[in-house]
Amino acid sequence: MKSAEIRRQFLEFFASKGHQIVDSSSLVPGDDPTLLFTNAGMNQFKDVFLGFDKRPYTRATTSQKCVRAGGKHNDLENVGYTARHHTFFEMLGNFSFGDYFKRDAIKYAWELLTEVYKLPTEKLWVTVYAEDDEAYDIWTKEVGVPAERVIRIGDNKGARYASDNFWMMGDTGPCGPCTEIFYDHGEQIWGGPPGSPDEDGDRYIEIWNNVFMQFNRDEAGVMHPLPKPSVDTGMGLERISAVLQHVHANYEIDLFQSLIKAAARETRSSDMDSPSLKVLADHIRACSFLIADGVIPGNAGRGYVLRRIIRRAIRHGYKLGARAAFFHKMVPDLVAEMGEAYPELVKEQAKVTAILKEEEDSFFRTIQNGMEILDATLAVMDSNGRKELDGEVAFKLHDTYGFPLDLTADICRERNYTVDAAGFDAAMARQREQARAAGKFKMAAALEYSGSATTFHGYDRLNVDGARVTAVYVDGAAVDVAVAGQDAVIVLDNTPFYSESGGQVGDAGVLQNGTTRVVIEDTQKIQADVFGHHGQVVEGTVRVGDLLNAKVDGESRARIMRNHSATHLMHKALREVLGAHVQQKGSQVDAEKTRFDFAHNGPMTDEEIRKVEAIVNREILANAATQARVLPIAEAQKTGAMMLFGEKYGDEVRVLDIGSSRELCGGTHVSRTGDIGLFKIVAQGGVAAGIRRVEATTGEAAFAIVQQQDALLGELSATLKAPAAEAVARVAQLQEHLKAVEKELAKLKSEMVVMQLDELVAAGMRTIKGVKIVALRLENVDAASLRDVADKARDRLGEGVVLAAGVTDGKVSLVAMVTKSLTDKLKAGEIVGAAAQVVGGKGGGRPDMAQAGGTLPEKLPDAFATVMQLLESKL
Ligand code: ALA
Repeated sequence: MKSAEIRRQFLEFFASKGHQIVDSSSLVPGDDPTLLFTNAGMNQFKDVFLGFDKRPYTRATTSQKCVRAGGKHNDLENVGYTARHHTFFEMLGNFSFGDYFKRDAIKYAWELLTEVYKLPTEKLWVTVYAEDDEAYDIWTKEVGVPAERVIRIGDNKGARYASDNFWMMGDTGPCGPCTEIFYDHGEQIWGGPPGSPDEDGDRYIEIWNNVFMQFNRDEAGVMHPLPKPSVDTGMGLERISAVLQHVHANYEIDLFQSLIKAAARETRSSDMDSPSLKVLADHIRACSFLIADGVIPGNAGRGYVLRRIIRRAIRHGYKLGARAAFFHKMVPDLVAEMGEAYPELVKEQAKVTAILKEEEDSFFRTIQNGMEILDATLAVMDSNGRKELDGEVAFKLHDTYGFPLDLTADICRERNYTVDAAGFDAAMARQREQARAAGKFKMAAALEYSGSATTFHGYDRLNVDGARVTAVYVDGAAVDVAVAGQDAVIVLDNTPFYSESGGQVGDAGVLQNGTTRVVIEDTQKIQADVFGHHGQVVEGTVRVGDLLNAKVDGESRARIMRNHSATHLMHKALREVLGAHVQQKGSQVDAEKTRFDFAHNGPMTDEEIRKVEAIVNREILANAATQARVLPIAEAQKTGAMMLFGEKYGDEVRVLDIGSSRELCGGTHVSRTGDIGLFKIVAQGGVAAGIRRVEATTGEAAFAIVQQQDALLGELSATLKAPAAEAVARVAQLQEHLKAVEKELAKLKSEMVVMQLDELVAAGMRTIKGVKIVALRLENVDAASLRDVADKARDRLGEGVVLAAGVTDGKVSLVAMVTKSLTDKLKAGEIVGAAAQVVGGKGGGRPDMAQAGGTLPEKLPDAFATVMQLLESKL
């Protein structure tokens, strides 16, 4: 039975028992930051189990896309090494939301397996949670499974509820005891029944897990009873298919066969049993489905897991001999296999292919060098008898050659080495610390400071009078005094200057009193709450303890604020126009512009840009007051404010409402959206695979752009002598006219040649052994005209050979013609080939007509001579 049929029968069976068939949800869980990827059928129903969400049905059934890589349920390391682990798989499930419970769940499962799928009952084994007498009795007394095949499994993993028979979605969330059904693949395969010492073997394979959802586990590990006992089941489609297709390993089922063949084809591999082919067949599914669901390879979070899977695939391809991008070529095979069940694959095929190819091209640039280093290191270790790869080497492979740690570990494991992961972490931490130190002090080396923190007043004021100087630095060292002419960093106890953070640049301005004046160019943090004002003392002196009036450059700050507030509105508008996959990946806001990087594949169309501009400008016109609230993080989360996944936030955060956008942000902003004035996108580009960048500007700068463009259009219209509104039509007209003129010119040229043809033919003609040969050289004719001329020359000849060469822009085109009567002795292709070789080209064609090109016009006389020799020898 085909997998598609197994999937269909499952859903139909439960539909016949009153279950609603629900579509698979995305692999990226909607609004659930506790979960990396969808890893079970129940994910999309989490809130229904918890009682927060209601559906019009109380019974549901799904075939759910799942990825178990990089999260709590992580199978990545096992893929390719066992018969039954995958990164991506399909989970068939039935769910009861406070409707039926243990008895019906067990009976439905048994009926489907034994009556629909017709599995022999004696092959089925069952486990129950040790304390669950109710489930035990249903199995043994009501279903009639012999007691020796019903096994109780307790808390055998070291903690209360830590058991194979107590299922938890994650560290928190719905959970409960479960009963699992196993299939015995037969005594020819090694392994023991569940709970026995040999249970990890491949003989007894779990095929279906029925979870009796009863609790919600909170962060402290406390179990709260669910509003209503419920059921959540999961059966891996690949495992049940293996059983029903009478094969032992999942990779032998129909769904994988064409993918394994595709992997072999693309890597030119003949060893069909290589585990690497299985890895590729598995990984192309995970990678393609993840990309189709909007995940983009990156350096953190979901994107990094995807990148690791892709690189692991590339490494296995490399092992099979691939030396250039190959993996993306398996996408069409996957689409053919699974596109019907999952139309998103068909829809996103081009995007999936492009993103994979880009990742491959980039990793193939470094993999070889990385492999050479690893091979050499392992060889040295071998001679020293060492078995653990140095963490520093693993880190270098990661940092310089893009080898994720698990990839290096995978290679090492294959060759019986381990990796010093702690050493790797230490090297990584050290590098981060160095990068942080280097990035933090733009103008000076690390500055020692132990005084009081700086209080920031700049959200509502641009002046602070009488701020006390708590430290002064010159050339990176603390000093008592800085004098006129010196560059200094000054720390104040109170300041209106914003110091660079969250993408917003530091403020500029002046610090002054009756005798002293310091022009500040930038403000950077020395420590989290200590602001360094960087500038030049232009009058007087600055001493620790002095009082200064601090004044931010209001004009520059106003521009920065407009750009920053507009960034929030743009972020919201981008999500509205392009989709919720748009996520901020970086931003820089200064007085000139805002630069915003975000996850999105491919350039925005002009129309999308116009839409984003229109939405932002509409918000500006609405002139709503902005609001900032400082809230505990938990409360802020509840407001639905945009947060960055994987970002660390403090206990208290600032929630900013600007127009209809709501984001966490510590920056300075306009008080009403109308203050932004005008918003204009000025540029867009790509930063990396799947990351786009837009630059935009506001206020006067945006207005200046409008004026510039208007002026440009005015100039254009004056030059074209046409009103601006007709400029485009006028240019198109001119282009058309130019094309017609060029065509006419080419025609005239070839007519001129033809008019002179008799002369040319006479001048270029000679005979070799009674056969007429014409060799012509023409300047500035294209290949088509050249052929035309050669045609006519041949017609005038009656019988003979024509070799015509045209030279245009330093390039040579060649045409040879041989009249039919001579083609048994002479071939046009041979003639043109001989000539082309001399002028640095290649060519070919029919026996009576052939064409070629070349790049060395100065060699044409030699080419003609070569052809004449050839003709001498052939005629
Ligand atoms: N949610 C259960 C599992 O994933 C069925 O095993």
